[in-house]
Amino acid sequence: MSFQKFREQCVKLAGSYAHLLEQPPRGMDADLALPCFALAKEKRKDPAVIAKEIAGAMKPSGLIKLVEASGPYVNFYADWDKLGGEIIGRIIREDDNFGRATRRKEKVMVEYSSPNTNKPLHVGHLRNDSLGMSISNILEFAGSNVIRTAIINDRGVHICKSMLAYKKWGNGRTPDKKSDHFVGDFYVMFEKKLKEDPGLEEEIRQMLKKWEEGDKPTRALWKKMNSWVLGGMKETYKLFGSKFDFWTLESGIYDKAKPLIDQGAKKGLFFKGERGDILAKLEPELPNKVVLRADGTSIYITQDMVLAKIRFEKHKIDRLIYVVASEQNLHFKQLFKILELLGYGWSKNCHHLSYGLVNLPTGRMKTREGTVVDADELIKEETELAKKEISAREKVSKTELEKRSKEIALAAIKYYLIKIEPIKDILFDPGRAISFEGDTGPYLQYTYARAKSILRKAKKKNRIGKGVGKEEIDLIKKLSQFPYIVKKCAVELKPNYLATYLFELATLFNSFYHAEKVIGSEKEAELLTVVESVSIVLRNGLSLLGINTLERM
Ligand code: ARG
Repeated sequence: MSFQKFREQCVKLAGSYAHLLEQPPRGMDADLALPCFALAKEKRKDPAVIAKEIAGAMKPSGLIKLVEASGPYVNFYADWDKLGGEIIGRIIREDDNFGRATRRKEKVMVEYSSPNTNKPLHVGHLRNDSLGMSISNILEFAGSNVIRTAIINDRGVHICKSMLAYKKWGNGRTPDKKSDHFVGDFYVMFEKKLKEDPGLEEEIRQMLKKWEEGDKPTRALWKKMNSWVLGGMKETYKLFGSKFDFWTLESGIYDKAKPLIDQGAKKGLFFKGERGDILAKLEPELPNKVVLRADGTSIYITQDMVLAKIRFEKHKIDRLIYVVASEQNLHFKQLFKILELLGYGWSKNCHHLSYGLVNLPTGRMKTREGTVVDADELIKEETELAKKEISAREKVSKTELEKRSKEIALAAIKYYLIKIEPIKDILFDPGRAISFEGDTGPYLQYTYARAKSILRKAKKKNRIGKGVGKEEIDLIKKLSQFPYIVKKCAVELKPNYLATYLFELATLFNSFYHAEKVIGSEKEAELLTVVESVSIVLRNGLSLLGINTLERM
């Protein structure tokens, strides 16, 4: 990378001070800076005096245009006339490969989405999927071998609830609507009826017992209802663009924990509680945790113990990232601790990518009361809003309207859910998310389409220019940061940096567009290469976020 070359030259020039070089804070126009505070302390001198001394002794050359003291800093300026052309050239020539790692180092598994099969996907899943997909793409870009997976929690009490309601009040009906919604209605119905008749709890326990014993009619009902839910979910995943290499079904692994429990008991890590449950001793660091119920039935954490072992030992992964809501923070702390106590060295390579709630203006969603914001509904709502917006601007054919509105709606949702740091809660505002202006997905798509429209109108052929004007420098500097931003996202597991970066790039590009007449300019060919570079980086960046671009908007 050309900017890397500049950095290397600065390191060489800075010599024994090189370790102090840093990226200057935003708003400063230097390309690299060397703060002199630490040196000042050491030498008991004024940092500004030291900065002057150091700067005075340095002779800029190569890609370094100027070295200058500014207060307590020594500032390094790149020769953007040289560097700009190189950076643009790389982007244009290498297209998709701009900064992409070519060697695959580690094998990392990203688990995301992981629904329960008792109800349809909701807006929380959309945040989960947006994060899971983008972080997978970003890790791949940065050089990991990525496996995308989900655990489908397809058994247990929650599934029995929808099953029992269907059995009692379903009259053997078959789905007359999207099949996951059909099943979800029975789950909601169960929770309502439970309020009137607490005796239903016992019936659920009976049903779960029957299921675990392999009772034929219970298993048949379970199979039927699960296939309805999964069928419906697959449609939603397809629409949203969620992709997986494979899924694991909890029903296939839930009863394989025995050896692990025995192993823990032998090591003295687990003990029998007063009520006969088996507990992992984690106190005082963490609360103790039941790993096996007295009646021998396994629980949520037991399946996770087995699953982690399978993933590391059978799939031979180096790292495991769980994209799961922050409500389960304690669960994952306990899980990782238990795995560590059991002696699995790989437990330190487990990571919980925790994320906050998604609220809608109507308040917190509660599945049980049926007021949850459903994923399909939200996608539909945004698509309708997108159609209105498109139609207000331009008359397009029906097929084009369908295609565009879908991509714009998905961009609106994904971008809105990714741009916020994972750990923070989100107030999702459908109207703001779909806006073509401001910090939104559609704005970025729009900026891309604008760049493409300039390129279509141009008569001259692009040429990689050597000299670049002041107006382009900011833009080129921004472009040159793309690979570093992606790597930063990969290291910190925070795709929001990339979202912010793309928004800043788009904003810079739009002010460049308003300030400079590209078509017909004396420098048309050179400016076009800048426009094309922006379009390439926008397209690549958005695709890492799981967002498709449109050629026209
Ligand atoms: N199905 C669970 C839920 O909806 C999430 C599973 C998360 N993954 C895991 N390995 N525990 O709450």
